[in-house]
Amino acid sequence: MDNRPIGVFDSGLGGLTSVRELRRLLPGEDIVYFGDTGRVPYGSRSHETILQYARQDIAFLLSQNVKCIMAACGTVSSTYPPEEAAKLPVPYMGVVSSAARRAARATRSRKIGVIGTSATIRSHSYELMLRRLVPGAEITARACPLFVSLVENGYVDGSAPDRQQVTKLVIAQYLKEVRDAGVDTLILGCTHYPLLAGMIGAYMGPSVALIDPGRAAADDLDQLLAGKGLRAGREHGSTHFFVSDVPDSFIQTADLFLGEYRGGTAEQICIDKY
Ligand code: DGL
Repeated sequence: MDNRPIGVFDSGLGGLTSVRELRRLLPGEDIVYFGDTGRVPYGSRSHETILQYARQDIAFLLSQNVKCIMAACGTVSSTYPPEEAAKLPVPYMGVVSSAARRAARATRSRKIGVIGTSATIRSHSYELMLRRLVPGAEITARACPLFVSLVENGYVDGSAPDRQQVTKLVIAQYLKEVRDAGVDTLILGCTHYPLLAGMIGAYMGPSVALIDPGRAAADDLDQLLAGKGLRAGREHGSTHFFVSDVPDSFIQTADLFLGEYRGGTAEQICIDKY
């Protein structure tokens, strides 16, 4: 048993989709969440910059005495080297391997689509993992940079019809090639995309399985904690939020990602100190 918090980080607010899953699966755990709201987005930045940011984010979470670290960010998960992760003093997991394993189980045709930020697609992280897991896989990967802005501005599933109209146009523009490739499984490889899952699913058609990396990683983290005897021994845990910009926008937007968030507090930290 270990009552220290789980550390979760993301480039901004999108990682709260993973926190939502963790809260559902592991209600007894305390969670420390860091959203790098002062430096978001990561997905359009260089490999070196993303790596430097990831190291600082991890150093901050370690300063909070976390028992494990989850990179909810698809971009960081695609960039942070496993060899470096293995040297951390606590277990680390990203979302790529969990999502790839789930996609490998879901596909029947071995035709798999992957969408994510420019950095995620450029890294080929999902392709490398999927080719190991699914011999002969046909992978169609596509960067969808506008999706993050659409989500952050509320152009999501269930928003006003004129907003959804805009998002549907962008979805059709980005995903035509993926749909034409006849994939039966599509990895939503970025924290923000689960908030568009309804519209993406409608465009792709009902026979295409959508994989939410945050959900897949939350399941794996649950198993990892159980396997290592690290689960907390209480019924109700709490979540503490830290951000690197003024917390106002976090408080306004967090509900969208977290659902259950009730306008609690978020503390601002100086990430450059780490
Ligand atoms: N959190 C990022 C990801 O999952 C999306 C936002 C960004 O570009 O920073 O890739």
